[in-house]
Amino acid sequence: MKLIFLGPPGAGKGTLAVRAVELLKIPHISTGNIFRAAIASKSELGLKVKGIIDEGKLVDDRTTTALVREALAILKGGYILDGFPRTIPQAEALGEFVSVDKVINFDIPDDKVLSRLGGRRTCRSCGANYHIVFGKPKQEGVCDSCGGGLYTRDDDRKDAIAKRLEVYRSQTAPLIAYYRGRNLLVDVDASPSVDEVVANFKTALGL
Ligand code: AP5
Repeated sequence: MKLIFLGPPGAGKGTLAVRAVELLKIPHISTGNIFRAAIASKSELGLKVKGIIDEGKLVDDRTTTALVREALAILKGGYILDGFPRTIPQAEALGEFVSVDKVINFDIPDDKVLSRLGGRRTCRSCGANYHIVFGKPKQEGVCDSCGGGLYTRDDDRKDAIAKRLEVYRSQTAPLIAYYRGRNLLVDVDASPSVDEVVANFKTALGL
């Protein structure tokens, strides 16, 4: 199954992806994770995108689409695309080389997004996400999975969050109508607890 996870920043796409990977036995391709790994390794791509991401803006369509095309070329079965496409031109480019089965639209109000992003802590080593209230690690500041240190992402600062929400509304939200018009969109209520969101996701996919 080829799925797209679409939704505002902090909606819980990455968190649900971890559970969906276990459930569906397919890999998770996150453009945000790919960019953060490039930044951490100080590669050419990382140096190019760091400032853009820290400010909450989008990386250009050409760079992002080429990266996704390369990542998908080595995959045989299904996958979850998280954070791509994020603009109409990206969706049109994707449509030229992939036929997706469903687009999961994470439906969530802004106040929830703000509280989720404001309290998020991310593992520097493996990228796992935690939350100071909703998903605490066993030991404060330490990743349960790999023992790495937890940090606050640079784009989880207040000004960057506001910019990301503005960019989401102007450039990404139009994809809802784009995919609804193609009968691919399924809405999932992403507001409740993680277990409830997983249940909503399973219902939406008829699992
Ligand atoms: P990316 O990493 O994709 O960021 P995003 O879409 O803004 O998504 P987030 O990772 O912030 O949130 P999420 O929905 O995964 O939420 P999470 O599960 O962590 O992209 C980062 C940047 O890269 C972009 O801004 C852009 O610059 C660039 N980029 C990426 N893709 C691009 C593209 N296609 N084109 C151009 N540029 C691109 O959850 C958030 C918090 O809430 C966590 O703390 C979690 O523990 C908690 N939580 C999750 N679910 C629940 C729940 N049900 N109940 C309570 N708490 C919850």
